Amino acid sequence: MPQSPRTRQTDARPAASLLAWYDTNRRVLPWRALPGERPDPYRVWLSEIMLQQTIVAAVGSYYQKFLSRWPSVQALAAASLDDVRAAWAGLGYYSRARNLHLAARVVADEFGGAFPASADALRTLPGIGAYTAGAIAAIAFDAPEAAVDANAERVIARFFALEDALPKAKPELRRLTQSLVPQMRPGDFAQALMDLGSLVCTPKRPACMICPWTRNCRGRAQGIAESLPRKSAQRDRPLRRGAAFVARTARGAILLEKRPEKGLLGGMLQPPLGPWTAKFPTRNEALAQAPFAADWHRRAGMVQHGFTHFELQIQVWFAQILRQETASGLWLNPKDMGHVALPTVMRKIIGHACEDLPATQAQSRKNQ
Ligand code: ADE
Repeated sequence: MPQSPRTRQTDARPAASLLAWYDTNRRVLPWRALPGERPDPYRVWLSEIMLQQTIVAAVGSYYQKFLSRWPSVQALAAASLDDVRAAWAGLGYYSRARNLHLAARVVADEFGGAFPASADALRTLPGIGAYTAGAIAAIAFDAPEAAVDANAERVIARFFALEDALPKAKPELRRLTQSLVPQMRPGDFAQALMDLGSLVCTPKRPACMICPWTRNCRGRAQGIAESLPRKSAQRDRPLRRGAAFVARTARGAILLEKRPEKGLLGGMLQPPLGPWTAKFPTRNEALAQAPFAADWHRRAGMVQHGFTHFELQIQVWFAQILRQETASGLWLNPKDMGHVALPTVMRKIIGHACEDLPATQAQSRKNQ
């Protein structure tokens, strides 16, 4: 019978030298158990979802906030989706908040509050793909699984001098990573690989002199380490353009509406926005998109925001009005916007509309 990739072990030495390096160089991270401590699967899961596509520095305060508000998976399952989304606002990739909440309910209701311990079972939970399943299984349950994110891909491509380009090289990189996962301390191995990628084997100017793998690194031996991993030429992200409408009452309240549940930024709040197309609307087209007739002025410049698959440019229209013009939507003062599900791009739009304006009495810049 062919050996399963999970049990194939080609060389134990790289794992041993990496773990020895990790024992003295490991990062202290809020979600990381201290040596000798048993990791809490809830904390591991929460941190891994937050760390998807997101840098460590951005996650810390969100992780602490979630943990103090919802200290267990049962507590999170009992929360409302709107509260979870509001707490997530600013962290990006908002479908994660919905999946986090859904997965918490599945674990609480169907798994009796205990996270499943295998990567395969973890993958059945909403929001958990191959990388996250491997990371949670390894870190929380010490299962011999590889956690192959972009950092690990870089380290492994260099260590094996794999010159195939991403994304085609992904399955091979996964197989090569798995071939190094030790039976002892696989959770530490996964985290050590993350730390090596972040502290030593960095995208530019890797610190090979202090790397525990420097002597066996084929990429270094061949003088190509820094150029790896190769990437297929990326197409430019398309540009989408549109107009946003920020209406502000004399008391400083701003009109927000809820986006449809499905799709980008699903269920999050925004000021009224026109459609996103290849071109900005003309003045007349924009005014026809406005939520109501008012003395709309276009603010100079625009707001630019990068999404994974496109770049967004928004022209911002502003109207100072006397009182709330429509009953629909939500009129909110900027000082209360810290507590609602308002994504970063929408905060930028409101900030752009309101900069240079004298603050009204009710307005505080602190929470914008
Ligand atoms: N990136 C993804 N998971 C991580 C973790 N557990 N620690 C640090 N960086 C990570």
